[in-house]
Amino acid sequence: MESSSSKHFVTFFLTTLISISSYTYSISAARDIPTSKTNIEFIRKSCVGTTYPKLCFSALASHASTIQSRPQLIASTALGVTISSAKTTSTMMFNLSLSHGLKPKEVDAMKDCIEELSDSVDELRRSMVELSQVVKGGPKFMLMINDIQTWVSAALTDETTCTDGFEGNEMNGNLKTTVRARIVNVAQLTSNALALINKYALIHG
Ligand SMILES: *[C@@H]1O[C@H](CO)[C@@H](O)[C@H](O)[C@H]1NC(C)=O
Repeated sequence: MESSSSKHFVTFFLTTLISISSYTYSISAARDIPTSKTNIEFIRKSCVGTTYPKLCFSALASHASTIQSRPQLIASTALGVTISSAKTTSTMMFNLSLSHGLKPKEVDAMKDCIEELSDSVDELRRSMVELSQVVKGGPKFMLMINDIQTWVSAALTDETTCTDGFEGNEMNGNLKTTVRARIVNVAQLTSNALALINKYALIHG
């Protein structure tokens, strides 16, 4: 008797759970699929003409619902993705700099690089704030866009300076490869963000 009622309860519970989740699914499917397709298509089109279109698309596709189909939002999301990649890279380098067996020259190069990455994150953050305050067709539009372009270019320069520190032959080969790959990725994301900002400026200037 008792086991049968608890069986019933389990069955009831599972049925309810399944119907709730399929209900939720059908709502979100009905609402999201057409718009998210449009949003994905918007990202694909916007990434054409950036320096690294494949990276642009793969880095932004998961943010389609944030970006919607708005040039200002794709540019600011690209900045956000770049900032978080720069921060992860910086932590990774800090971790690496603590590992044993590094030459003093290598540790110095890492420290310099972490500082340059931190400058670059500051510049990218400032750009993201300014971009959120830009008013389409406003009197200060081009002035603000010019500031943003300057800061993002400066961020790119800082990242390039960081890889320069790892050029020398006295650097460990593995370390050089690991660090360079990460920084190059951050620099490519930055370059793409700049291209998306330039596109936004062209459409709305
Ligand atoms: C850095 O090291 C900490 C502590 O060991 C670890 O939790 C973290 O995931 C590491 N981060 C990166 C990016 O390597």
